[in-house]
Amino acid sequence: MNHKIILLWTFLLHFPFAVGENTVLKDEDEGFDESSADHKTTRGMIKYNMRKNLDLDQEGCYLQTGKKACLEECGFNATAKTIFIIHGWTMSGIFEAWMYKLVSAVMQRENEANVVIVDWIPLAQQLYPDAVNHTLTVGLDIANMLDWLQEELQLPLENVHLIGYSLGAHVAGYAGTYVKGTLGRITGLDPAGPMFEGVEEKKRLSPDDADFVDVLHTYTREALGVSIGIQQPIGDIDIYPNGGDVQPGCALGDVLAAAGNFMEVMKCEHERAVHLFVDSLMNKEHMSYAYQCTGPDRFKKGVCLSCRKNRCNNIGYNARKMRKRRNSKMYLKTRANTPFGGYHYQMKMHVFNRKQSDYADPTFYVKLYGGHNDTGNIFVVHDDPIGLNFTNTFLVFTEDDIGDLLKIRLSWEGDSESLSSVFKYIKNSFWNWNAKAAKPVLEVRRIRVKAGETQKKFTFCAQDPSKTEISPGESMTFVKCRDGWEVKPRKRLPM
Ligand SMILES: *[C@@H]1O[C@H](CO)[C@@H](O)[C@H](O)[C@H]1NC(C)=O
Ligand SMILES: *[C@@H]1O[C@H](CO)[C@@H](O)[C@H](O)[C@H]1NC(C)=O
Ligand SMILES: *[C@@H]1O[C@H](CO)[C@@H](O)[C@H](O)[C@H]1NC(C)=O
Ligand SMILES: *[C@@H]1O[C@H](CO)[C@@H](O)[C@H](O)[C@H]1NC(C)=O
Repeated sequence: MNHKIILLWTFLLHFPFAVGENTVLKDEDEGFDESSADHKTTRGMIKYNMRKNLDLDQEGCYLQTGKKACLEECGFNATAKTIFIIHGWTMSGIFEAWMYKLVSAVMQRENEANVVIVDWIPLAQQLYPDAVNHTLTVGLDIANMLDWLQEELQLPLENVHLIGYSLGAHVAGYAGTYVKGTLGRITGLDPAGPMFEGVEEKKRLSPDDADFVDVLHTYTREALGVSIGIQQPIGDIDIYPNGGDVQPGCALGDVLAAAGNFMEVMKCEHERAVHLFVDSLMNKEHMSYAYQCTGPDRFKKGVCLSCRKNRCNNIGYNARKMRKRRNSKMYLKTRANTPFGGYHYQMKMHVFNRKQSDYADPTFYVKLYGGHNDTGNIFVVHDDPIGLNFTNTFLVFTEDDIGDLLKIRLSWEGDSESLSSVFKYIKNSFWNWNAKAAKPVLEVRRIRVKAGETQKKFTFCAQDPSKTEISPGESMTFVKCRDGWEVKPRKRLPM
């Protein structure tokens, strides 16, 4: 296992297009300049670059543990929030574009905060296992810096927020473990998986590392037995946008790259955590919610859109601190671009099969009509066949805000849409001499809808109460039921 990981990462490290070969050599040279082979070689390799200005080409100002003059020079404000941003493993040896976006978004949102980039590039631009080994060193160094700030300025640790991407998330975890006291918050942005998945809590980011630990997981797909982002939940809340798996807009065809598609896809999915976080900083008025669920499959079925008892939360910077509750996995769907937030609807409909169409295998689409806008036809995703004589629950996601939902059109795509139903239809037509009778007919009388974002529940009834049947190729429209269409919250609704 370990061997494989090392191979994978060694391979990635030497991938020609993404690696500045020169910079690798240069940094190794610098390492030798510093001092002899003992572990003090890390001195000077961890820098605290405090940003004072949105112009990120400007150098900023450096904090140094024990040097009081730097604090004044940098204008460190001990009563304001302090936000450290920690990068991860690097191949290029320079800050990538996301760093500038994140820093600028944090500074715009919190304009009085002390925003500090923890620059550990010389220690991160190594073979992956070596960079992993340095996460402890860097975490300890940050803990030292924070201890000194506590002594020198009585910096309240509850105002300190560490934001770590990839390996940087585990660096933050070590900082939280070793600092004297309890950090306010750590945000892990797709924390690295290789060599951290399944290891004991003290060797990775974990809920004990801060008062509130929130984690976004965006690239947890396994390749060669490893996942670049850690799969297991490791915070107080763990949010898996789009199942934490395939991010919209990151597929091979979506990512612009003539060469090196694989790398681009990887970067797109792993880095999506950062962009979702940036989005949450910038689009305060358009928040995305994530919903607690036991797994991605149940979420896709639409059964988990509840906000009762803290079961939902804002994602990213706006996440509300929750009572310590381990392994709370939360899910949401997102758009492919900023603003990433969309709208989730749970739809429940009982599909009656009164005509005994036992070969009916419907493929449903819905079109939603809202106060502001309508959607196109949305495929109703269902992994299992739609249950007949059964109340089915679906998740419908829209990218645009259509306003209040007014009307729903349900369509059953014709046979051509589904090969298996064609086959069943032919088979049945053949044996059932009366082909017309063989045309499947199902009945849907109402659709119960719950909007995730507003938590409102409504019931929609067939527009024409005498026509509640639907066959392939047909559609029917549902409108507000005349009798009590808005469902008032009841004591306990079985979800
Ligand atoms: C320091 O931060 C606090 C809290 O954000 C703010 O009220 C105060 O004005 C700041 N001081 C300076 C000198 O900027
Ligand atoms: C990690 O660092 C320690 C010293 O801090 C060293 O003994 C160990 O060999 C290193 N492990 C790897 C995999 O480089
Ligand atoms: C559904 O219920 C009807 C009676 O309402 C029955 O005739 C039919 O066989 C049932 N179909 C299935 C698939 O259970
Ligand atoms: C309505 O939605 C369409 C796409 O479905 C979009 O192009 C259009 O701009 C939207 N109109 C408004 C008013 O939001």
